[in-house]
Parts: sequence; C-alpha cells; structure tokens
Amino acid sequence: MKIKIISVVGARPNFMKISPFIHAINDYNSLHQQPEVEHLLVHTGQHYDDCMSRKFFEDLDIPPADINLGIGSGSHAEQVGNTMIAFEKVLQKHRPDWVVVVGDVNATLSCSVTAKKERIKLCHIEAGLRSGDMSMPEEINRLVTDRLADLLLIPDLISEGNLLKEGVPKEKIVFTGNIMIDTLEKFRDKVKGFSILKILYENKHPDAAGNSIETEIKDFSYALMTMHRPSNVDNETVLKSLVRFFIEEVTPEIPLIWPIHPRTEKQLKHFGLWEKVIETKGLILLNPLGYLDMLRLNMSAKIMLTDSGGLQEECTVLGIPCLTMRDNTERPVTLQEHGGASVLVGNNVLHISDSFKKAMQSPHIPVRPELWDGHTAERCLKAIIEYKSL
Ligand code: UD1
Repeated sequence: MKIKIISVVGARPNFMKISPFIHAINDYNSLHQQPEVEHLLVHTGQHYDDCMSRKFFEDLDIPPADINLGIGSGSHAEQVGNTMIAFEKVLQKHRPDWVVVVGDVNATLSCSVTAKKERIKLCHIEAGLRSGDMSMPEEINRLVTDRLADLLLIPDLISEGNLLKEGVPKEKIVFTGNIMIDTLEKFRDKVKGFSILKILYENKHPDAAGNSIETEIKDFSYALMTMHRPSNVDNETVLKSLVRFFIEEVTPEIPLIWPIHPRTEKQLKHFGLWEKVIETKGLILLNPLGYLDMLRLNMSAKIMLTDSGGLQEECTVLGIPCLTMRDNTERPVTLQEHGGASVLVGNNVLHISDSFKKAMQSPHIPVRPELWDGHTAERCLKAIIEYKSL
C-alpha cells in the first residue's frame, strides 16, 4: 500500500516548515514501514530570487522541487489565479491522496482551493493561527485554508480554541507542535561556530556605506531587524517615521543589522529614503540572508525588531527580546503575557521608542511552548498516515 502526498512551497517562510516534513518522510520510508509514502514537492515560484529561495533549499537540505510552477511576482489575484491554473494541471496528472500546505502565503491559499476542487484531501500544517486582522493578506489565506482542510495540524492550543470557535470539528484537529522549531533545533548547534563578521562581510548590501564593519560592531553587541509587511513599508508616512526612528534613536545606541527584503528596498527607493538609509553610520545593511546566517545572527542579538511571524517564534525559543512592529499577532503564544519574548509595538514610533529602551535592559530568557520540541514533523506525518475520514 502507498500514500501519495504532494506538498507545496511558494515563499521564503514555507521552506523552514517543509524541510523537516520531507526529512520525516525519508526517515519513515527508510524503515520500510507500511504504507509507503510517495512524495512530490511543488514550488509555486512566488519567491524566485536566489536569496529568497535557492539559498534556503541549500541551507535546509531540501531536495530540488519536483515541479516548479514559475509563478513569480504579481498582484495577489495574479499570483493566486496563476498558481491555481498551473497546480490544477499538476493534480490532474499526479492524482495524490493528499495535498499538504504550510503557513499562510498565497501558495497556501491557491493550492488549498485547487486541491479541494479536485476532491483531494487537504492537510494544513500550522493551522488555527488568527490575527483577527482582515487587512492582512495572510489572515484571508489562513481562514480559507482552514475552512477547507480535512486535517488541521496546530502549533499550540490557542489555535485549537480559534478553530473550535469557528465550528471546525475537534476530530479534524491534531496538536502536533511548531514545525519551524524542528528546523531551529536541527541547526542551532551547527551555526554556533559561524563567524558573525564573515556573515556581515559576505552579505553586505552592494549600496551600503563604506564604513568598516569591525568599527560598527566593536563588541559584537547589536540589534537585528527585518521588515517587509505592507502595513509598514507600503505607506510613505509610516515608513518615513520608522526610518527616522532607526536612524535617530536606534543607531546612536547600538549598531543595527538590517537584512533587507526586496519589497522594502523597492519602497525605500520609491519614497526617496534609500540614500539616507545607506549613508547612516551604525546601520549595517545586508542582502536578504539565508536561514543559517539569520539564525546565527539572531542567537547573539541583543534585541530583535521585526514584523515577521516566524522570528517572533524563534526569538521566544532563543530568549531574544523581540519588538514586533505590528498591532496584532496570529502568534499570541510568543507574547510576553503568555510567557514569550515578544512585545507588540505597532508602527507608531512614540510607542516603539519606550519599548525599545525597556527591551535594551531585558534579560534573555528562552521559553519553550508545549510541543515546540523538534519532533513536530514526525507527528504531522503520523497524523496523515493515521487519518480516518469523519
Ligand atoms: C510573502 C508572503 C508573506 C511572507 C513573505 C516573506 C503572501 C501574501 N505574503 O510576502 O506572508 O511573510 O512572503 O518574504 O504570500 N520580490 C523579489 N524577489 C523575490 C520575491 C519577491 O524581488 O524572489 C519582490 C517583488 O517586487 C514582489 C515583492 O518582493 O512584488 C513582494 O513579493 P510577494 O511574494 O508578493 O510578497 P512578500 O512581501 O514577499
């Protein structure tokens, strides 16, 4: 007997979630268990730059995708529509038993809808997260995917409450833990030996100012930042005030390392802020980093400033104080009030400023939410194999 699974990746945050799942399938098959699992990996191609995609396949030891749909950039409707058209053909050709999607990007939504229309069972890894903010494209993707999924694998019990409130039958939900932490646990020892200076030199943004990196981070105390959400980078007034805060309040206190997302770079140039950013002393501008380099920098950061969901989780497990530049989060388990490392600071600079001063004094306390133990992928695969339809 055989179970045929197609799993899907599209954008950067998917790669850390699918890598452990593929390795769990390989480990399972190597023991010659029944039913055998046949697996195909589909990359929708939403992220296509080497530093947003290929580097992650290398870092995380993901085999090349069996099928690449080559969707690329575009409006949301273009990305979703083009993915559905291409993925439908894949499903009609390969007829898997299951489609497995992860996270909340456009690939997750598109492939979920297509799978259900083709009457193929759908499993969502990282189900049940809710920000309650319908202006976030990811929230729409989560809601639709979870409404359609046959099997909802949740990272924490808050997510179970969200799904039950929406009327999802309890039997469809399995608490498997946080799959991204499997990746963190697998690589944290390996990256300890990586040189921070080497990472900074090798990934320096070509436009960055000529200051020597050694003088910028003399005692290896630094803040680390990532920012790419439309709510922070697509509005000129917001982006301007954030940049002023980084330049006038953060860099005089502590060097700020900023691996810059292509969307953010494009918007800084568009709003005429780029020159100011690249000339700022104490701001170390990098190209987008691969997973391993980012993990290394995160492990030694004094604080993190971010609007990413995944980094809130990684900071919680690593104990790095994290200022989350958003008004809400779909990951409340990472917040300080739930024992995590993250504080929501929005994008109003008056609030961020206070929290920044406090966070600079905060101790580093690692926290491990239940089942964030490095073994989530095995539980996900087991849940699929043992699935019994309602
Ligand atoms: C997507 C996800 C977001 C995730 C983020 C991580 C959705 C709705 N959003 O947002 O949840 O946190 O990925 O990065 O799926 N671009 C490049 N090269 C690339 C990819 C993108 O230059 O390889 C540029 C293009 O100008 C593109 C823009 O970045 O238009 C935005 O890319 P897109 O995939 O639309 O969304 P992200 O902002 O990356």
